[in-house]
Amino acid sequence: MRRLSFALTCLPLLAVPALADDLSPIERLGKSIFTDGNLSANGAQSCSFCHDPGQGFTSAHDAFNKAGAVIEGAVPGRFGNRKPPSAAYASFSPVLSHIIDDGDVTFVGGAFLDGRATGGKLGVPIADQAEGPFLNPKEMAMPSAACVVYRVLHPADPAHYPVRLTDVWGRDVADVTFPAGLEEACKNPDAKIEIPEGEMADAIDAAFGRIALSLSAFEQSHEVNRFSSRYDKWTRGEGTLSDEELAGLEVFKAEDKGNCAACHVLTPNTQGGPAVLTDWTFDNLGVPRNRDNPFYKDAANTEGKDWYDAGLGGYLATDPVFKPYAEANVARQQVPTLRNLTKVATPGSVKGYMHNGYFKTLEGVVHFYNTRDVLPACADPLASEAEAMAQKCWPAPEYAATMNKDELGNLKLTGKEEAELVAFLKTLDDE
Ligand code: HEC
Ligand code: HEC
Repeated sequence: MRRLSFALTCLPLLAVPALADDLSPIERLGKSIFTDGNLSANGAQSCSFCHDPGQGFTSAHDAFNKAGAVIEGAVPGRFGNRKPPSAAYASFSPVLSHIIDDGDVTFVGGAFLDGRATGGKLGVPIADQAEGPFLNPKEMAMPSAACVVYRVLHPADPAHYPVRLTDVWGRDVADVTFPAGLEEACKNPDAKIEIPEGEMADAIDAAFGRIALSLSAFEQSHEVNRFSSRYDKWTRGEGTLSDEELAGLEVFKAEDKGNCAACHVLTPNTQGGPAVLTDWTFDNLGVPRNRDNPFYKDAANTEGKDWYDAGLGGYLATDPVFKPYAEANVARQQVPTLRNLTKVATPGSVKGYMHNGYFKTLEGVVHFYNTRDVLPACADPLASEAEAMAQKCWPAPEYAATMNKDELGNLKLTGKEEAELVAFLKTLDDE
């Protein structure tokens, strides 16, 4: 009898957390890692710090979003130089490849805005990507992969890990000998932790790869990629869009109007499901400098205010095989998803758009696509979006030589059509 009442009272309690998020064990493990602040130098910067689910998996930190849009790393005062893009829908990007057509070489896929997480190591671009932030001194700033592996295997709060690394990957994954004094050394982001080559390094690398693959499983899950926007419901015949939104969709598609779908494709995604609104190629839109990008004042910036984000070309230059293609691809950034553009964790929160967060409004983005090559250059090359809109001008691009002049810049849209486009973009927020 006692046993029965135990089962009756406890079973539902045990079952609830698993059912509540309805994730598979590896996805659940990935979610625990994604939200574990203890895997960073200050004990507080998890992946979700910069990729907040409520904010469409971008950063919800308004003070940064309003300005440089680059998020401060776990070590105070350290910043990278890009805005966090959405970690949702990023999993649909294929392994980086290049297509040769009539002598033109087009790069497709990979993760990060410059495609440098190619998928060549773990087979999945976002898994290669996931190894990056932990060890990036300007992000989570852990001094060694050994520290990340140690802390996932020995969580500060075991309850945070209802599914443990060994549950998913087997006991072997924990069969790691760590260097002496590791736990203490991991507290210092600048510690030099020597891992002797051989068995120890191999075991740490294998476990670190499994942590990254678990993260990528979560990022591939339906909890992250919900496809639950009003647009999705409308395509499934489950809901309606307003006349203005439908007109916006037409402007979005028409080659002689917005031509947006040329890059933000509406065709099925790489796995055959609903559109992710990117073809995973790279382009330079001629986005102006964001004067508040903290990198302009970074000691590592040797070019001062002339610095530009080299994008795909910057990555290709580091690869002996791709180097010949680098110059033509300088300042090209990967076409992002357009899902969750206005999804915010708290009402009124600001978002930054484009690799450098120059734009803060969709009205500004759309007006830029429409009039980049029509309006005069702003007298101040560092004018903000608000200043440029008020003065009816656009500042010079960050980098001009590779700018796309064929598909955007002078779309000849009316004010009404611009407003319709914005209305359509807002139907792409997950509910
Ligand atoms: C300090 C903020 C910060 C933290 C913490 C952070 N990221 Fe990011 N994330 C970024 C930035 C910035 C980029 C773009 C960087 C680039 O392109 O070079 C990015 C890019 C990405 C991308 C690629 C998206 C795309 O479209 O290519 C994914 C996926 C991602 N992060 C997942 C993660 C995961 C998983 C973690 C935790 C292990 C994490 N991030 C931690 C800021 C952050
Ligand atoms: C030639 C390809 C191409 C076309 C055409 C195009 N885009 Fe883009 N779009 C991009 C690229 C590349 C980026 C990222 C550029 C960057 O970060 O510098 C981008 C970024 C954006 C962003 C910012 C997303 C974010 O999360 O930061 C929005 C919004 C957007 N595009 C909307 C549109 C609309 C609306 C149209 C049609 C008027 C359009 N795009 C046409 C390639 C294109």
